[in-house]
Amino acid sequence: MNIISAEFVCSNSDYKKCPDTGLPEFAFIGRSNVGKSSLINSLTGKKGLAKTSSTPGKTQLINHFIINESWYLVDLPGYGYAKVSQTERLKWEKMINDYLMNRDKLFCTFVLVDSRLEPQLIDIEFINYMGESGIPFAIIFTKTDKLTKNELSKSLAQYKKKLLDWWEELPPLFVTSAEKGNGKEEVLEYIGEIMANAE
Ligand code: GTP
Ligand code: MG
Repeated sequence: MNIISAEFVCSNSDYKKCPDTGLPEFAFIGRSNVGKSSLINSLTGKKGLAKTSSTPGKTQLINHFIINESWYLVDLPGYGYAKVSQTERLKWEKMINDYLMNRDKLFCTFVLVDSRLEPQLIDIEFINYMGESGIPFAIIFTKTDKLTKNELSKSLAQYKKKLLDWWEELPPLFVTSAEKGNGKEEVLEYIGEIMANAE
């Protein structure tokens, strides 16, 4: 899958107001600051396309980016951001859940997890929720440039083991670095395959 063009389309808090073009979409979700927006920039090769920040809670809306004028990458707000009020957090959760449950052309949601951390309960719970709801998803390990090869394989093994406590089969799992571009080809190829199979 080659990305020829990538443009910002719109930001919404309500999934019903998101584009109604019927084009396929691929979303990025995960804890605040895990690297969702950075990965979108890395995949598209456009640095400032999705807004990133070193402080969590940067992305607060559902952001659609149109790729090659024929499908969307969708940047979502993070979950688990501690510094917002309970009311605000519930509002975000509802916005994300409504989006995930109701977009007919949501072909795959990538759940991003920080490769440097032990499996976090909030991520495992989210992954289990995706599985139980039957929402197609894959897992993406982020920020792997911050780990040695050894640390990375340990972390991967630990994650797989944790998932196998809950699930018989592992979901697709990609190992990435937005900083170095690792895993970019694999993720794009996977997106291409999903679209080819849907034709
Ligand atoms: P929210 O929108 O707040 O939910 O965060 P996000 O998940 O979109 O994270 P974002 O892409 O804004 O990145 C958060 C921080 O992590 C930024 O300081 C990025 O530069 C850094 N970061 C993201 N990806 C990588 C990576 O692959 N490697 C390294 N070293 N840093 C990264
Ligand atoms: Mg973001």
